[in-house]
Amino acid sequence: MERSALPAGGRILLTGATGQVGGELLETLKPLGEVVAPSRANMDLANTASVRETIRAVRPRWIVNPGAYTAVDKAESEPELAYAVNAEAVRVMGQEARAIGAGVIHFSTDYVFDGSASAPYRETDSTRPVSVYGASKLAGERALAESGAGHMIFRTSWVYGARGKNFLLTILKLARERERLRVVADQYGAPTWSRDLARMTAEVIGQCEADVRGFELATFLFDTGQTYHAAGAGETTWYGFAAEAVRLQREKEPGTRFAAIEAITTLEYPTPAKRPANSRMNGARLMERFGWKMMDWRDSLREVLAEL
Ligand SMILES: NC(=O)c1ccc[n+]([C@@H]2O[C@H](COP(=O)([O-])OP(=O)(O)OC[C@H]3O[C@@H](n4cnc5c(N)ncnc54)[C@H](OP(=O)(O)O)[C@@H]3O)[C@@H](O)[C@H]2O)c1
Repeated sequence: MERSALPAGGRILLTGATGQVGGELLETLKPLGEVVAPSRANMDLANTASVRETIRAVRPRWIVNPGAYTAVDKAESEPELAYAVNAEAVRVMGQEARAIGAGVIHFSTDYVFDGSASAPYRETDSTRPVSVYGASKLAGERALAESGAGHMIFRTSWVYGARGKNFLLTILKLARERERLRVVADQYGAPTWSRDLARMTAEVIGQCEADVRGFELATFLFDTGQTYHAAGAGETTWYGFAAEAVRLQREKEPGTRFAAIEAITTLEYPTPAKRPANSRMNGARLMERFGWKMMDWRDSLREVLAEL
């Protein structure tokens, strides 16, 4: 499909550039135009005035928002902060974007669902978060929709990569230190490579820029802009992910001793926040509209391990 860079002088305002997805977006968005990525000190997402002022100063054509409060368990005891970052900041992004005709790309989560469905979730399925984090992310989705800004929401799941705080890096570290690791085997989903998500986002912006010619971006996004599920293809459990990662790492390092990985149930591993048992997401809409298929988690896992 045809793609194009931003019109001359167009800027992308990127939040959360120190995070997993933001760090990758910093690279994948560069070929499209100027990327402005303020530090937390310059744009504090917990402070709506700071968000508003930064957007007014930058006057971006696109706001890309992977910045978020992502501490799922901690959110149970810090709901105000979780809502401030995940919902109120997003509301302001929407309001400001609408005022200047900018497009907003926002990231959300499988945790907006309760996990009781028996099939992979579609965008049209009913949401019912079971944690403060999930509820705060859903509030952000709704605030953005209510703002009237042209926008797209990419719901993803189980994000990991070679950098940042994530399950893969934690498991590999612990597997070197311990005799055995007990990992939950009754939550189903798919790991998503941060770089795949960032590449997809750049592709989607490029396609929108190619298609929008002659129209206002905001008007164009009212048709194209909607929610898309963008999680790794295939499915596994946290246990399956850990076991495969350690198996592949053993092949790379035959002389190293790694922990045995044992399957346990969610009940055996209590956490402050409840998590959905089914996090599987159907990516058909993203494929139909933008021709993008997210990588199978096993393929991306090999690529990430090769980078470590
Ligand atoms: N990680 C997952 O498994 C997962 C799963 C589903 C959906 N998602 C969604 O995917 C998106 C990207 O996630 P990620 O894994 O890349 O997250 P991440 O690695 O935790 O990064 C979050 C980013 O947000 C920034 N941030 C947090 N609070 C801030 C504040 N008050 N002011 C300014 N910046 C702030 C962080 O900055 P600091 O470095 O300064 O903390 C960091 O750059 C998020 O919308 C998340 O909800 C993630």
